[in-house]
Amino acid sequence: MKTLISIRSLGRSDLDALISDALELRNRLDDRGVIPRSLEGRCVAAMFFEPSTRTRLSFDLAAQRLGAHVITFDPETSSTSKGESLRDTSLTVAAIGADILVVRHSQAGVPQAVGEWTGLPVVNAGDGAHEHPTQALLDAVTLRRHFGDLAGLRMAVVGDITHSRVAGSLIHAMPVLGVDLTLVGPAQWLPDESTVRMSQSLDELINEVDVLYLLRVQTERGGVIDQDYIDEFGVDAARVARMGAGAVLMHAGPINRGVEIGEEVAESPRALINEQVRNGVPTRMAVLRALAGAST
Ligand code: CP
Repeated sequence: MKTLISIRSLGRSDLDALISDALELRNRLDDRGVIPRSLEGRCVAAMFFEPSTRTRLSFDLAAQRLGAHVITFDPETSSTSKGESLRDTSLTVAAIGADILVVRHSQAGVPQAVGEWTGLPVVNAGDGAHEHPTQALLDAVTLRRHFGDLAGLRMAVVGDITHSRVAGSLIHAMPVLGVDLTLVGPAQWLPDESTVRMSQSLDELINEVDVLYLLRVQTERGGVIDQDYIDEFGVDAARVARMGAGAVLMHAGPINRGVEIGEEVAESPRALINEQVRNGVPTRMAVLRALAGAST
């Protein structure tokens, strides 16, 4: 793997190899086992032009666990604030000695452009409403740990589909892994057309799915929260009670309690939200190892 801009660049065998490496690394982290120093002496630069907690910290820890140096670029305290262009900033970070770039930006396409300017491997850590490929990967790892085989698993992704880069990657990754995916939301947040099934009624399918994946309303990209949305698509304790036996709840975070997820629902035994976060580190280790040529 030379770069990771879109999950669409990965076929079934690529996904399986990354998931398998992440599962092995998760076991080693849990057991405090030997972690391969696959990035010893390399430098990973985190270039986050948009806020992040989970992705940024887990890439940072993932790179450090593998022996890399990590340098962090903060747009607010960097020369970006003096007018330096994105291209010049990227070339500067490359000239400093970065070997791999992890890029988040509000504009779709920026991680790809950074890769083209610098010639370096880039991980897309979220670009606009386009994609967030490592989120879809860590979600697949979480599902594999919980359910084993994903073939035939019924999953509904619920909410602000059109503004969500998480949905943008799940739509491509999950069917490749055999998941039966449905997009659920109000008409204005569903795409005009999709390769997967769509529904405007959560209540019609809530008792039929194995995985209910809730999306945050992307207010920074034009999503507007109103009471109708909360009433029709918010998953409160009453809706959780209608989920099937063994069904689980997922959310990429950050969560908005009282909007897409009820106040207490994140603490439900059905919620895998913390597991998703935990799997972020080994998953990003697997991606960095693949980019460094250490695996897959
Ligand atoms: N899921 C996710 O991307 O979270 P952060 O914005 O905190 O990185």
